[in-house]
Amino acid sequence: MKVLVTGGAGYIGSTIANALLDHGHTPVLLDSLVTGPKAFTEGKIFYQGDIADRALLERIFQEHPDIHSTIHCAALIVVPESVEKPYLYYRENVCKSLELFHNLAELGYTRVVFSSSASIYDAVPGFKVTEEAPLKPNSPYARTKYMMEMVLQDLSRATPLRGIALRYFNPIGADPKLRSGIHVREPSHVLGKLVDVALGKLPEFVITGVDWPTRDGSGIRDYIHVWDLALAHLKAVEQFDHVLAKTQSTYTVINLGTGQGVTVKELVAAFERVWGRAIPKREAPPRPGDVAGAYANAERALELLGWQAQHSIEEGIASALAWGEKRKAVLGYA
Ligand SMILES: NC(=O)c1ccc[n+]([C@@H]2O[C@H](COP(=O)([O-])OP(=O)(O)OC[C@H]3O[C@@H](n4cnc5c(N)ncnc54)[C@H](O)[C@@H]3O)[C@@H](O)[C@H]2O)c1
Repeated sequence: MKVLVTGGAGYIGSTIANALLDHGHTPVLLDSLVTGPKAFTEGKIFYQGDIADRALLERIFQEHPDIHSTIHCAALIVVPESVEKPYLYYRENVCKSLELFHNLAELGYTRVVFSSSASIYDAVPGFKVTEEAPLKPNSPYARTKYMMEMVLQDLSRATPLRGIALRYFNPIGADPKLRSGIHVREPSHVLGKLVDVALGKLPEFVITGVDWPTRDGSGIRDYIHVWDLALAHLKAVEQFDHVLAKTQSTYTVINLGTGQGVTVKELVAAFERVWGRAIPKREAPPRPGDVAGAYANAERALELLGWQAQHSIEEGIASALAWGEKRKAVLGYA
């Protein structure tokens, strides 16, 4: 099966492409390389360009008329940057995705799997969210994800386009064969920072927020191995029509998480167990925009995709550490 992967040079898109390849499918990558590294496209079918470029999309489908579905990962993803540059984020993530979806519908390539985010959920008592939990995206970035869910739903009602939005929780780790992983120079995610402390790139780890109403006061998340995440996309494209038939709908939303809430302090403890040493750390107040967090009710993913996360948090940490050691050889920078 041939699958168009937008953002295929990125952290998650490249892992999905590797998972497709390992399972006998053919990814066709479309990426502008605005943030993703060219190294992740090596050896794969790759078109460098913008998702809103209609002529390029037409060329891709002329050269690969047998593309079965599109996994739309391309986006800008840095929350603080989205607060500073909302126009950029709404243009890149909303306007361009709208053009992409419209063009896909017009060109007759109607199956779309969309990378959405758990950051659109509101805080709920107990922190566990089903897909029906209330939404309250609290940054321009999160609002772009929320908007594109609405757009996909509306287009699926009015056009032949069909959509599955996958709400990712907190991806960690790297490709098991270490072909790709986190590529940003200064990771803003908690595990990326822990790895940087372990590698001596940061002096200490700062636990931001220790007064949340969680079991130990630190924020709670649902850390999902990026390989598990990638495998869920395989299931989504392989069973696309079947999934929507089961829901009797033209559009559906599925949480991708482990179903286990892990606090930041628990993550740090797990990291120290895997790494075998204590790391320098201190506690600090939450940063602006921080939230207590959420974890997934992952029942719908099991029911609709027959998928559940297989990897433990320790495996995700070990994978992130291994990639931290390897990434200079792949990317050319540490
Ligand atoms: N990483 C996370 O923690 C996380 C969590 C939830 C959801 N997501 C979603 O997953 C998707 C992938 O995230 P990621 O972590 O792999 O990010 P990433 O930055 O590594 O990958 C995004 C890719 O999209 C490309 N891109 C951006 N705008 C483009 C455009 N207009 N045209 C063509 N290519 C473009 C970039 O060059 C990059 O390779 C995003 O949609 C993101 O919102 C990520």
